[in-house]
Amino acid sequence: MADDLFEFAAVRRVYAVMGSPVAHSKSPEIHAMFSRETGIALEYTAIHVDRGGFTAAVRNFHANGGTGLNVTLPFKAEAFRLADTHSERAARAGTANTLRLDDDGSVYADNTDGPGLVTDIVDNVGVPLDGRRILLLGAGGAARGVLGPLLDAAPAALVVANRTPGRAADMARDFAASGAVSSSGFAALGKSRFDVVINATSASLAGDLPPIPEHCVAGAALAYDMMYANEPTVFMQWASRAGAGRVCDGLGMLVEQAAESFRLWHGVRPRTTSVIEALRQRPVTPYR
Ligand code: ATR
Repeated sequence: MADDLFEFAAVRRVYAVMGSPVAHSKSPEIHAMFSRETGIALEYTAIHVDRGGFTAAVRNFHANGGTGLNVTLPFKAEAFRLADTHSERAARAGTANTLRLDDDGSVYADNTDGPGLVTDIVDNVGVPLDGRRILLLGAGGAARGVLGPLLDAAPAALVVANRTPGRAADMARDFAASGAVSSSGFAALGKSRFDVVINATSASLAGDLPPIPEHCVAGAALAYDMMYANEPTVFMQWASRAGAGRVCDGLGMLVEQAAESFRLWHGVRPRTTSVIEALRQRPVTPYR
């Protein structure tokens, strides 16, 4: 007992998620559940940061003993830029959702969004990605954050489609060395068919639907919306009607990316199934 107390006092583990808005964040609850499950004591809070104040907020948190941060919208690119060193997957994405604040004052950046998405699809939902045809909708920060790990899963083909086709083309070009990636506008998808369709646009947040042809999702094994909400999103409802085999929201991705952050900070990957089940029981604010 005395040893435990000594260790807790000596190793203070202080974490937070920073974003704007951040009040809705499930991360404090998720990390509290991971803490109970692994027996690793920690503090984890949500900190609202005004636009323009992110770098100062990180430096302040670090100087006051903070040991790690999750970063959400709109600061993921700035989080990447302020770090001294980066994981390979963060470097490919150019954005970071996880910072490790080291004792020597340096900052290490990682991006666990992509691994979180792939783990949720492959291990939780049970849909393999290798050898499959994937359609990724969107070419903003969210899509860029997951593209590398999706290509690492060795799909036969991955098409990035976006409302503004030039952004999709830029992204496909940036990731050309990582796998079989090409780009398209929505209308130009023509009669293409896909096994897995992933919505990484912010359209669902506004209750909108990316205007893609129905046959892109008809017969697909999975239609996945990276957003989560209490009710099936507009995209999920549309994909069900259009004939997707499974539809899924992004709650599992949220928990899996948190588990990867936890592993970076603590060296242990917590179990996630019971955490996902617990969160499903509670109302959530729609978010991605
Ligand atoms: P995020 O970081 O959430 O990805 P972002 O970088 O602003 O935010 O990107 C938003 C993405 O959602 C973009 O791909 C955007 O398409 P454009 O590049 O054409 O702007 C897409 N998007 C947003 N609203 C949309 C809508 N109503 N229909 C289709 N795509 C939409």
